Amino acid sequence: MPISRAKNHQEYLEYYRQSLENPEAFWAEEGKRLDWITSYSRAMDASFDPEDYHLNWFVGGCLNVSANCLDRHLSDKPALIWEGDNPDESMVFTFKELHEQVCKFANVLKKQGIQKGDRVILYLPMIPEAAIAMLACTRIGAVHSAVFGGFSPESLASRIADCQAKVIVTANVSLRGGKTIPLKDNVDQALMSPEAQCIQHVIVVQRTLDAVTWAKRNLWYHDLMAEASSDCVAEAMDSEDPLFILYTSGSTGKPKGVLHTTAGYLLHVNMTFDHIFAPNKDSVFWCTADIGWVTGHSYVVYGALSHGCTTLMFEGIPNYPASDRFWQVIDKHHVTHFYTAPTAIRSLIRAGDEYLQTSKRSSLQVLGSVGEPIDPASWQWYSDKVGLGRCPVVDTWWQTENGGIMITPLAGVTSLKPGSATFPFYGIEPALMDADAKEIAGEGSGNLVIKRPWPGQARTLYQNHDRFIETYFSTYPGTYFTGDGCHRDKDGYYWITGRVDDVINVSGHRIGTAEIEAVLDEHPAIVESAVVGFPHEIKGQGIYAYVVLDPNCKDPVTDKQLNDWVRKRVGAIASLDKVQVAAHLPKTRSGKVMRRILRKIAAGEADNLGDLSTLLDPSVVDDLIQGKV
Ligand code: PRX
Repeated sequence: MPISRAKNHQEYLEYYRQSLENPEAFWAEEGKRLDWITSYSRAMDASFDPEDYHLNWFVGGCLNVSANCLDRHLSDKPALIWEGDNPDESMVFTFKELHEQVCKFANVLKKQGIQKGDRVILYLPMIPEAAIAMLACTRIGAVHSAVFGGFSPESLASRIADCQAKVIVTANVSLRGGKTIPLKDNVDQALMSPEAQCIQHVIVVQRTLDAVTWAKRNLWYHDLMAEASSDCVAEAMDSEDPLFILYTSGSTGKPKGVLHTTAGYLLHVNMTFDHIFAPNKDSVFWCTADIGWVTGHSYVVYGALSHGCTTLMFEGIPNYPASDRFWQVIDKHHVTHFYTAPTAIRSLIRAGDEYLQTSKRSSLQVLGSVGEPIDPASWQWYSDKVGLGRCPVVDTWWQTENGGIMITPLAGVTSLKPGSATFPFYGIEPALMDADAKEIAGEGSGNLVIKRPWPGQARTLYQNHDRFIETYFSTYPGTYFTGDGCHRDKDGYYWITGRVDDVINVSGHRIGTAEIEAVLDEHPAIVESAVVGFPHEIKGQGIYAYVVLDPNCKDPVTDKQLNDWVRKRVGAIASLDKVQVAAHLPKTRSGKVMRRILRKIAAGEADNLGDLSTLLDPSVVDDLIQGKV
């Protein structure tokens, strides 16, 4: 039998001990949470041993994700509540209705030639069709790859090319904060790229009556659905068959196609959803993340639905039409569980407590935070003001590569400390490494690693397994390196301190500095650039670009032009918050940019630059501090 929810911390410790001491038996029982077409012969066959590295979970099992999310919960209970950008628009799909839509769209995809294993790009707003398309892919064994609507046509094209997708599902436009974003136009531009010619069909959801240009390979979603049958047998997928790819930034080069597989991922999100949020049969779970990110995959769609829980999907933004929108939606749909990012909390704190007066929020039971460190003051505001001091706040730490939550409180069970993600989830064994790659015992700070495999972890980077091993398993062989720094206090609580690599976390979105630098360096006026993160009151981290201009370039370039250049090539999420023109970048004698110094200057900590002895030319630093060009 799968373990039941811990009633107290002692019980959590006991289950946690079992999960580490006898993992094979533990996971074999937990696997029973899912519905299997063929049951597995072994729960785990996985090792981080560099000599014998392999990840196989639920060996020999066959199952279908959409059947686990829909067929086993078929009823008139609401599965998906959708709230539009405009407060007058909302919709409810019961489990039966969602099942019907998913089966129809699965047949649509089949008719367009999509087969098991084919890749389908989803470039969609937060509309029900996004969840329908994801689940429809899983029904027939197609691999979805969602691309966040804030990415540019160029970023979209490179993702299409990397995974060689055959079909893209999009909408004519996306609505956010009363503004219209031309999604289909972006797709058209992306498809002009020679590398995106693998796309055979573009399926377009008609979100509004706004006109779009039409090409031969375009098809209206509603036309296809009108003809589709609602009978679609769920494909039997092997536990380790690919489920989805999500592109995410790393510290070097192009975005990485993080690949998740079927059974381990679904079990991890199903289990974390249950134990951490402790929903009951009437719960309404609202995760505000966009489905273009992993949080949207794992907790808007797969975690909640596989558990048979009602999930709420919101198209809009926190401050439209006014900064009480979140609270209004909570009252309107009787939301019991609310899961959002610290950046949204900080922006709502700034908007003012008066926006809390127009709602009661009496339905709320549990609050969650994800995506970036939450400072204790924001945590306290969230707990006291939003949750009226009666809802536990679960600060959940995890990453795209992890599949689901890794370090977290269990709602109502764990004693909380504001700003700490508290303790590891079942089966997760974190450790801290010091500068000499030695494990730190007890209290201390270091680099966070995970010492053993877990079911929900990514299996590879799409068609680049060497980069996967290099990125995650080479820094500390035999462990998974997270890229995060972390402190463990004397009571064993974990406090995530943020990235230790060249990835910055802007409003909970990961952006690799190398990606922005590569784009800046292509600008004709720029000789070289260096991008770092700096503390930002609302976004957590902002983007700070140092640029060295070409003295021979005749046209002066403005900050705005550089910002537009980056936004056009990467997307709106890569907006530059500050641009500093520099005469030179600080480099070591071997020519490496000393980013540590640039980070300090950007953070306004120039009086505390540390050891400068390896600098080639120390006067460069003085010029930077004084803003000399
Ligand atoms: O730095 C950590 C931060 O977000 C990174 C992962 O980003 P991404 O893959 O986009 O996934 C975001 C949502 C799961 C981590 O390396 N992060 C995520 N959650 C927390 C966090 N930092 C501190 N506290 C958290 N709760």
